[in-house]
Amino acid sequence: MKKLLIVLLVLLTAAAASFAGARADGGASGSTAASLVGIAMPETHVERWVKDGASLKRFAEARGMRAEVQFGNADQTQQNQQLQSFLTQGAKVLIISCVNDGVASVVAEAARDKVAVIAYDRIIPNSADYDYYITFNNFKVGQLQGQGIEEGLNLKAATAQAPKYITLFAGSPTDGNAFFFYDGAMSILNPYIEKGVLKVVGPYPKTSADTANFQRIATENWQGPIAKTRMENLLSGDARDVVLDAVLAPNDTLGRAIIEACKADAKYRTKLPVISGQDAEADSVVSIKNGEQYMTVFKDTNKLAEAAVILADAVVRGQTPNIPGAVLASGDLAKIGDTGRKVVKAYLLDPVIITRNNWQVPLDAGFYTDAEAAKLR
Ligand code: BGC
Repeated sequence: MKKLLIVLLVLLTAAAASFAGARADGGASGSTAASLVGIAMPETHVERWVKDGASLKRFAEARGMRAEVQFGNADQTQQNQQLQSFLTQGAKVLIISCVNDGVASVVAEAARDKVAVIAYDRIIPNSADYDYYITFNNFKVGQLQGQGIEEGLNLKAATAQAPKYITLFAGSPTDGNAFFFYDGAMSILNPYIEKGVLKVVGPYPKTSADTANFQRIATENWQGPIAKTRMENLLSGDARDVVLDAVLAPNDTLGRAIIEACKADAKYRTKLPVISGQDAEADSVVSIKNGEQYMTVFKDTNKLAEAAVILADAVVRGQTPNIPGAVLASGDLAKIGDTGRKVVKAYLLDPVIITRNNWQVPLDAGFYTDAEAAKLR
């Protein structure tokens, strides 16, 4: 018993010493050493957020901040409770990727408490209570999806005599990004549709501003099963008498759901349509390697997380942020930072197109966990 107590004491002393060491290091780097950063991610059914949450926590802790991560389960009420709990615990800064605009009330509370809020990846809409947003160039993400389809269908050589057929999907109408992705993609595809060499099967919003049609192709909360069911309905309905050459899918989760629906249809058993994606999820990159999904967009969320933490740290210290690898949106792109109530400063990182030719890029960037990387080797 005595021995056990001694061992425990030794362990405790060692732990306390290393804790003090960590604090001293963090303290040496500045005044945010003990600040709590509350990290709120929207959901876990799209894999990336789990990675984002872990990276944000890791980078914050490396800067000597205390960090806590919560996932909202695609439910804004739940995320608001998590945010309120961060405020109660005295958080100095919140990094939020919201579910929908219902977050604005808690962002207002944070502003009243002088707690800085950084919108992470997704804009916080309808709010004038925060100043900073960090994300990717989301219009370009869509352009890359459009370019992938343009290349996969060889649209430059397509003719009106032998047109190609496409059906269109968009992301969640509650997520500001979904509009940029769609508009970026259609900026590439619309000219071919106008020439008659690309024909749309099903609803065709020319841009996201066609709200009625956009709602018809949108996928509430980015849920795979919703996209799968819609694809099944298209295959037995509007697309019954054609062979689809392509499907615009806004991310990998939905892309793979659409592939599942196609695989269950005899027409596509030997040749799938050209299907786009986004996020470079390991399962989708495996699918790209195997010649199923055509492309994805790699957004290095490690870099995004690091940049967000640099931004959070600067904001808490009252310094002007200097974020390597990100550009402040200006000109046409400034609208990426338009909340509807105010234009916040939007820092943009650059997305990269991934096809069968360069699928190694995210792997080489150290983007995957060991278990994910193992799927790719
Ligand atoms: C993100 C995408 C993600 C989607 C669904 C968007 O806001 O930018 O990377 O695939 O949400 O979670």
